[in-house]
Amino acid sequence: MLLEVNQLTREYKRGREAFRAVDEVSFTMADGEFVSIRGRSGSGKSTLLNLITGLLQPTGGSVFLDGENIFELDDRNYSYLRNSKLGYVSQVQSALSNLTVMDNVRLPFFLSKRDGEPSERAAALLEQVGIAHLAKAYPAQLSGGELKRVAIARALILSPELLIADEPTCDLDLQTTKEVLEFLASVAQRGTAVLMVTHEADASEYCNRTLFMESGKLVHIASGNPSGIFCSAI
Ligand SMILES: Nc1ncnc2c1ncn2[C@@H]1O[C@H](COP(=O)(O)OP(=O)(O)O)[C@@H](O)[C@H]1O
Ligand SMILES: [Mg+2]
Repeated sequence: MLLEVNQLTREYKRGREAFRAVDEVSFTMADGEFVSIRGRSGSGKSTLLNLITGLLQPTGGSVFLDGENIFELDDRNYSYLRNSKLGYVSQVQSALSNLTVMDNVRLPFFLSKRDGEPSERAAALLEQVGIAHLAKAYPAQLSGGELKRVAIARALILSPELLIADEPTCDLDLQTTKEVLEFLASVAQRGTAVLMVTHEADASEYCNRTLFMESGKLVHIASGNPSGIFCSAI
C-alpha cells in the first residue's frame, strides 16, 4: 500500500482546553489513486495534510509511506523519503519571488542534488499545466491561478509517488478549476497518486474517492466515478 494513515491524531490547546484538530483518522491509498478530502473550513483538512507530509508531528497514530513509518525516520532518511516520494502544493502561495517560473519549477531538482538536467522535464510540466508561455516571467507578474499551476509543476518535478495538494483550485474561475482537476486526474492516471483537499463539490467527479471531514474526524467516504454519478460506498 502506498499510504497508510492509522488513528492519526493532532491535539492543540485553545486557552486551557485541549481539542483534536485531527481525531483518529485512518485511511489508505493505493498507487495512482485520486482521493479528495472535503469538509468545512476548520474541520482539520490542512492539519491532516501537514501530518501526512511529516511537516507536523502527530500527538497520536502513524503514517506509513511505502511501508515506512515517516515519524520514526531520522532527518536524513525522512528528507530522502520526502524528496523521492512526496510532492506538496501548499494552501498558501509559495513561489520564490526572485526566481523565474522556470527556476521555481526546477528548484527542488537542484536542492535534492540529483544528477542530470531538469529543464526539459520542467518545460514539459509547464506545457502540461498550460503556462509554458510564462516560463521566463516572475511570480509577481502572475495571476493566482497561474501561481497555483507553478506550484503543481514544481511539486511534480521530482516525479513523486504521491502528490499532496491543499486547495489547489481555491480562488480559481470555473474553467481554470476544471482544467486543474483534469490535469490532476491525468497525473493520477499516469501513476502518481493524488491526495487533494478541496471545497469543490464537483471535484468528486474526477476522483476515485472522496473523504469527508468534520471536527477532525473522517465521517463519510464516497466513491466517485468517471461518469460523474455519485454513489455512496459506506
Ligand atoms: N497551530 C495551531 N494551533 C492551534 N490551533 C490550530 C493550529 N492550526 C490549526 N488549528 C486549529 O485546528 C482546526 C483545524 O484547522 P485546519 O486544519 O487549518 O482546518 P481546514 O484546513 O479544514 O480549514 C481549526 O480549528 C484551527 O483553528
Ligand atoms: Mg485548510
